[in-house]
Amino acid sequence: MKSAKTPRLAWAITGSGHYLKECLELLESYEDVDLFLSRAAAEVLSMYGCDVRRLRERMTCFRDTTASAGPVGLFYKGHYDRLVIAPATSNSVAKMVWGISDSLVTNIYAQAGKCRIPSIVFACDTAPAMETEAPGGQVMVYPRRIDLENVERLRHFEYTRVVERFEDLVTALQESPAPGPSASVVAG
Ligand SMILES: Cc1cc2nc3c(=O)[nH]c(=O)nc-3n(C[C@H](O)[C@H](O)[C@H](O)COP(=O)(O)O)c2cc1C
Repeated sequence: MKSAKTPRLAWAITGSGHYLKECLELLESYEDVDLFLSRAAAEVLSMYGCDVRRLRERMTCFRDTTASAGPVGLFYKGHYDRLVIAPATSNSVAKMVWGISDSLVTNIYAQAGKCRIPSIVFACDTAPAMETEAPGGQVMVYPRRIDLENVERLRHFEYTRVVERFEDLVTALQESPAPGPSASVVAG
């Protein structure tokens, strides 16, 4: 496998509707981005009106179809200089915190860490009560103690930056070595 000339941004989406549209808009503002979808993300995206086929035409998009998470090999060869997981479900966060890598997204997080590639994780469950977007509109959710504790645990992981607000995700990306997003997304 050849290494990439210019490292790209790896962006993973998990099965959450939390700021999903905003995350999509932000990631689409990057030229050098490859997308990794959890199995749940592939389902949830269409529930929020996103055409996965259009995304796949627009960018390289890896689906979770293999047991060994084949695309992880790209992380060993310098294809990516940063991983973004946004939005990140409490399920994927829990697995990441406990060192489980049994899906595409949890695998690339683990491999990014082992390759010393920094990750930015936009966690969904960050407060005891919060408003989030369901397919039919805004709803209240009450993350459990275990969900909140796992987000706190993840903060202490090496090569990991946890962000709680979408604006903090935008800022973290601007500080990253990857090319920045377009001005309209930053301003919006
Ligand atoms: C419409 C919809 C919205 C969801 N939003 C969230 C969410 O905001 N946070 C969350 O932790 N799980 C959410 N889920 C549940 C996850 O999709 C589910 O836990 C799934 O197993 C996560 O798998 P993944 O972490 O591999 O993507 C949602 C599910 C649906 C159908």
